[in-house]
Amino acid sequence: MNLRNHSSLHKLFYSLMFAGGQTAVVLEECLVGPEYSMFVVVSEDQFTILPMSQDHKRVGDGDKGPNTGGMGSYSPLPQLKKEDRQRMIHEIVKPTMNGLVQGDYHYCGVLYIGLMMTEGGPKVIEYNVRLGDPETQVVLPRVKNDFAELIDAAVNHEKLPEIEENDQSVLGVVVCSKGYPTHPAPNVKIGKLPEGTNTYIDYANVKGDLDNLTGDGGRLFMVISEADNLVQAQDNVYSYLSKLDLPDCFYRHDIGNRALRD
Ligand code: GLY
Repeated sequence: MNLRNHSSLHKLFYSLMFAGGQTAVVLEECLVGPEYSMFVVVSEDQFTILPMSQDHKRVGDGDKGPNTGGMGSYSPLPQLKKEDRQRMIHEIVKPTMNGLVQGDYHYCGVLYIGLMMTEGGPKVIEYNVRLGDPETQVVLPRVKNDFAELIDAAVNHEKLPEIEENDQSVLGVVVCSKGYPTHPAPNVKIGKLPEGTNTYIDYANVKGDLDNLTGDGGRLFMVISEADNLVQAQDNVYSYLSKLDLPDCFYRHDIGNRALRD
């Protein structure tokens, strides 16, 4: 490659040379498309796949602002075509499994594959060896299998069952302290959260007792609803949130819109 014809690279190498002689530059492909989270339970050479979900990583409505740990999630994914999911399994999961086996990793546990569905097919954005947050909160309620038995089978190298998904739609919105993710306010007053009729709370970074909670910065809790469809789950969660009076907290107002309105 003639660097003189690539002025950005030329400048980069030039400045790196003067910054201590380091001249390695990593070029990354810019990928465009929706991102999905796939959790694969692995036991050596076997695998089984949990229901898929989508996280919302940017802090602001409309995917604006910096990345966060995740502002909300939902499952299932009505916009993901069956054949695209099959491609993910054939082009990503199976080769990954082959790599684990051929590399002698003897991996037992959850493999979290962050995937992007691009025009050129599915691409891996990240691998993690854990479940994801806030996806787990909407994925596990959709698993009909006994989760403890599933994990037991995985760690004991027994035959892994097919995952059976129920028909529920689950959606959750994360409530954060103001300033998150760069300067999250500490010690935010929450008090006692009201009972929801068709929602429940998964607490994260809070302290005190349930009658008088204080947020300890960052992502504080998630309001979740399990319903017959995503529209209903989204309405339930936002109707609960609209009744809260938490001036030092914020949340996104568009969780699930990509599935419902795009
Ligand atoms: N939701 C992103 C993660 O758990 O890494």
